[in-house]
Amino acid sequence: MTVAPALLTLEDVDVVYGAAITAVRGVRLHVGQGEIVTLLGANGAGKTSTLRAVSNLLHAKLGRMSRGRITFDGRSTAGLPTSRLVSSGLVQVLEGRHCFRALTIEENLITGAIGRRASKAETATDLELVYALFPRLRTKRAVLAGLTSGGEQQMAAIGRALMARPRLLILDEPSMGLAPIVVAEIFLALTALNRDQGLSILLAEQNATVALKAAHRGVVLENGRVTLTGIASELSARDDIRAAYLGLNKPPSSESSRSKSIEVVA
Ligand SMILES: Nc1ncnc2c1ncn2[C@@H]1O[C@H](COP(=O)(O)OP(=O)(O)OP(=O)(O)O)[C@@H](O)[C@H]1O
Ligand SMILES: [Mg+2]
Repeated sequence: MTVAPALLTLEDVDVVYGAAITAVRGVRLHVGQGEIVTLLGANGAGKTSTLRAVSNLLHAKLGRMSRGRITFDGRSTAGLPTSRLVSSGLVQVLEGRHCFRALTIEENLITGAIGRRASKAETATDLELVYALFPRLRTKRAVLAGLTSGGEQQMAAIGRALMARPRLLILDEPSMGLAPIVVAEIFLALTALNRDQGLSILLAEQNATVALKAAHRGVVLENGRVTLTGIASELSARDDIRAAYLGLNKPPSSESSRSKSIEVVA
């Protein structure tokens, strides 16, 4: 369990859309330096809304953070444009693997370096790192992103985020719609980045099986509220988590489901 100071902290965050829809209520969570934290929850639980709040992306969706406080690296993010957050190291890969379809894979990656005004040499070095992480992208470097597979587009979206040299990488359902073998490739890359470079990661997922395997800790959202937090391996052993998110019914060892490090919040 990490004891490092938190890189990202959310305190009592509420998110509303328009005048009436409250999507997130009183969310508290943190991501420590070097940690992978996964935000789990079913459709509509509030994962994307929480991540939009972190990157100050709500206004584009006619939403806002109506309560609470978010700090990144000890500083409040209130009022900071997304681009400023990106240049300070808080970089998000949005839901739905956004790529510029009419640009090549390599051009897509290079757009990630533009915001930090990287030199040509730095860009070339970082491209090599991304290609080493996702060898498929090297073979597709000159292909228009719109003509590549969903998995390659997701890798390109993650690669573009890495070109911004994040300190905290946020990913919104990177596994969505992808074949298990591609999901495994992506999660292998994420865990390697965390292990080898100490990259901190906050990951929203419906696929709790892969997410809890990769993560150190998990936070479960239900109807916009945090209902459970704990160490990933212990959460994946819980009956309720297994039934709701893992599709498994085999009883876990009684020891792990009674663990004191899991906090039932609501
Ligand atoms: N732009 C929006 N305008 C109005 N309501 C929204 C908007 N985006 C999300 N919501 C509502 O907010 C709630 C939380 O949605 P959100 O997209 O954050 O959940 P999610 O956990 O990311 O779900 P999913 O797994 O489907 O991506 C839902 O009730 C949803 O309908
Ligand atoms: Mg979502």
